[in-house]
Amino acid sequence: MTLLYQCPLCSMALEQQKQSLCCENRHQFDFAKEGYINLLPVQNKKSKQPGDNLQMVQARRAFFATDHYLFLQQAIVDLICRYQPKCVIDLGCGEGFYTHAVANAVSQQDDTQIYGVDISKSAVKYAAKRYKNVHFSVASIKQTPFADRAADVMLSVFAPIFENELYRLSANNGKLLIVSPGPKHLFELKQFIYDDVQLHEPVTAPKGFVLKNHTLIEQKQTIEAKVIEHLIQMTPFAWKFKDVHYQLINERTSHEVTLSFYLSEFEKG
Ligand SMILES: C[S@@+](CC[C@H](N)C(=O)[O-])C[C@H]1O[C@@H](n2cnc3c(N)ncnc32)[C@H](O)[C@@H]1O
Ligand SMILES: [Zn+2]
Repeated sequence: MTLLYQCPLCSMALEQQKQSLCCENRHQFDFAKEGYINLLPVQNKKSKQPGDNLQMVQARRAFFATDHYLFLQQAIVDLICRYQPKCVIDLGCGEGFYTHAVANAVSQQDDTQIYGVDISKSAVKYAAKRYKNVHFSVASIKQTPFADRAADVMLSVFAPIFENELYRLSANNGKLLIVSPGPKHLFELKQFIYDDVQLHEPVTAPKGFVLKNHTLIEQKQTIEAKVIEHLIQMTPFAWKFKDVHYQLINERTSHEVTLSFYLSEFEKG
């Protein structure tokens, strides 16, 4: 199987040579022992440890282990299987919770390749160690290490959107599935820190893509207080939660929390 990576330094195709990928210009990248490849050139690193740090990755993994987001994982898998993809790229894949589920589901279709890309080395290390059915790389999704039009399906779950790169990466008529918070996502938790909780709107079509469908999936679930701490650590408003808020949360053993997601399907127009 030929991997679809291109050199992040010169954009030539990368070829596998034992435990490395090399381009014609002799740029070489080695696979880590966990099985992922680091394709983030040092000069593209804006900080020493870009992306989610280890603590955030561990919180996410601990939360996913509770199965509260299984219904979202299943909805993503169902949609992507419908596309009958040949190459799926999960952009900002984190520790691979959705990526590996997609890979499991499409594994019957022989030559489908599933890639997970994230700028966080901690996240990709965790992902590659656990999930062997996905090609994981450390790279920026602003400038991904793939050829033009490499992906017929792209997935973005709660990750930053870089419109130009999405357009470059997408095959003609390629599909893009963006998962974003639904209107009342985590409403009850936000009430601890905001007087007036703003409702989320669905995302708009990135440049060059046409909206095909917005699906809203929503459940109210009872979540244990100690699990809620992990859930909060996964959110952009985690920094707003102070000890006093955690004390309030821990006054009860569990809380009813709304979990709400938009699954927005786009097609390259
Ligand atoms: C909220 S997390 C979502 C992770 C995963 N999709 C999930 O839902 O479990 C956002 C992810 O985007 C990654 N990220 C942020 N900026 C990035 C960039 N420029 N390139 C690649 N990944 C990036 C972070 O490291 C983090 O893992
Ligand atoms: Zn090169």
